[in-house]
Amino acid sequence: MKILITGGAGFIGSHVVRLFVTKYPDYQILNLDALTYAGNLENLRDIEAAPNYRFVKGDITDPAFVDALFAEEKPDAVIHLAAESHVDRSITDPLAFVRTNVLGTVHLLDAARRLWQPAGYDGHTFYHVSTDEVYGSLDFGPDLFTEATPYDPRSPYSASKASSDHFVRAWHHTYGLPVKLSNCSNNYGPNHFPEKLIPLAIHRLRTGQPVPVYGRGENVRDWLFVKDHATAIDAVFHRGRLGDTYNIGGVNEWQNLKLIELLCDEVDEQTGQPAGTSRQLITFVQDRAGHDLRYAIDSAKIMSELGWKPSVTFEQGLRQTVAWYLENQAWLDSVTSGAYQTYYQGQYGRGASPAPAR
Ligand code: NAD
Ligand code: DAU
Repeated sequence: MKILITGGAGFIGSHVVRLFVTKYPDYQILNLDALTYAGNLENLRDIEAAPNYRFVKGDITDPAFVDALFAEEKPDAVIHLAAESHVDRSITDPLAFVRTNVLGTVHLLDAARRLWQPAGYDGHTFYHVSTDEVYGSLDFGPDLFTEATPYDPRSPYSASKASSDHFVRAWHHTYGLPVKLSNCSNNYGPNHFPEKLIPLAIHRLRTGQPVPVYGRGENVRDWLFVKDHATAIDAVFHRGRLGDTYNIGGVNEWQNLKLIELLCDEVDEQTGQPAGTSRQLITFVQDRAGHDLRYAIDSAKIMSELGWKPSVTFEQGLRQTVAWYLENQAWLDSVTSGAYQTYYQGQYGRGASPAPAR
């Protein structure tokens, strides 16, 4: 089976690519990524020479490129992760999110339909990886997002992801495309670009810079270790029902301020600083526009139907994550310098694409 994984050079995508390349040596894994600021082939150094892995640089917003890629590579299945993923960026540049998350997804859906429909859809899967943010925002209290929760996106990012989910379902209902979806909570772990809360905080703590807490730091997120998201994607891809959606979460809710305090203490412990040193860097800043109060996922369906569960506790995951960032300062330095992107595009962009480059 040849699987096209989009966004495989990004944070979650790189963990999914690694899992599939190592766990399924009989599969051919084709990683399609535009290498935006968020995509780094350094994330996949350890598996880049594997015989069942290839990288293709390309942009899903370019329909001619997508069509040529499908015609040439004829993937049996797609796991679609490529996206603009940062809520703050969606507030300042919403159109980029419409282009990649909405139009890019539609280009992939239609390329898959045109490739697979003529000979029948048997054996094919289009799996769309999405977010819990499509469900909107919860109050403090016991409520959880289930697969039946109505969509209520509130940021340009979540609106673009909700839209792409709707298009995926539309291609299923209208054209019979064999699709699967999952909607996951906040991920954390190695290779997370330091614009998101946890890697940003670790990066700033290690360099002695203030850690910005939006508003009063009371907002709640449900955190899942990225490698556990990858195993959930594996479970849905192989055992999930066609046309179905699976919610994925960590059963692990934290208020932002409490989480940052925990991170500060972990950084102090691992760097040998006196306890309390890092907490002095906590700085309250202006709130995010339209900041969703609380996300919390009910993972009962994936746990009971597919037997998936997280493998690490938050304490273990956070300790591993802080250790990874402290041990990989060169990675952090390079992804936060402009030269990094230029270098890796030069390294891997050369003629690697089987289809016409843009
Ligand atoms: P990321 O920003 O780290 O990575 C996105 C990847 O997509 C990058 O490698 C980037 O180069 C690539 N990409 C962007 N635009 C592209 C384009 N036009 N063509 C080809 N490639 C392009 O994102 P992430 O955090 O790894 O998220 C991956 C997916 O999972 C996204 O669809 C996101 O919505 C979803 N998701 C993320 C989280 C989370 O907590 N990070 C939670 C739930 C769902
Ligand atoms: O819930 C899943 C979503 O989680 C994914 O779909 C998104 O791709 C991913 O980016 C993430 O979105 P969030 O907006 O929840 O993540 P972020 O790390 O940006 O912010 C987490 C919380 O921390 C949120 O309440 C905003 C707050 N925050 C964030 C940053 C970057 C701060 O207080 N300070 C900050 O500097």
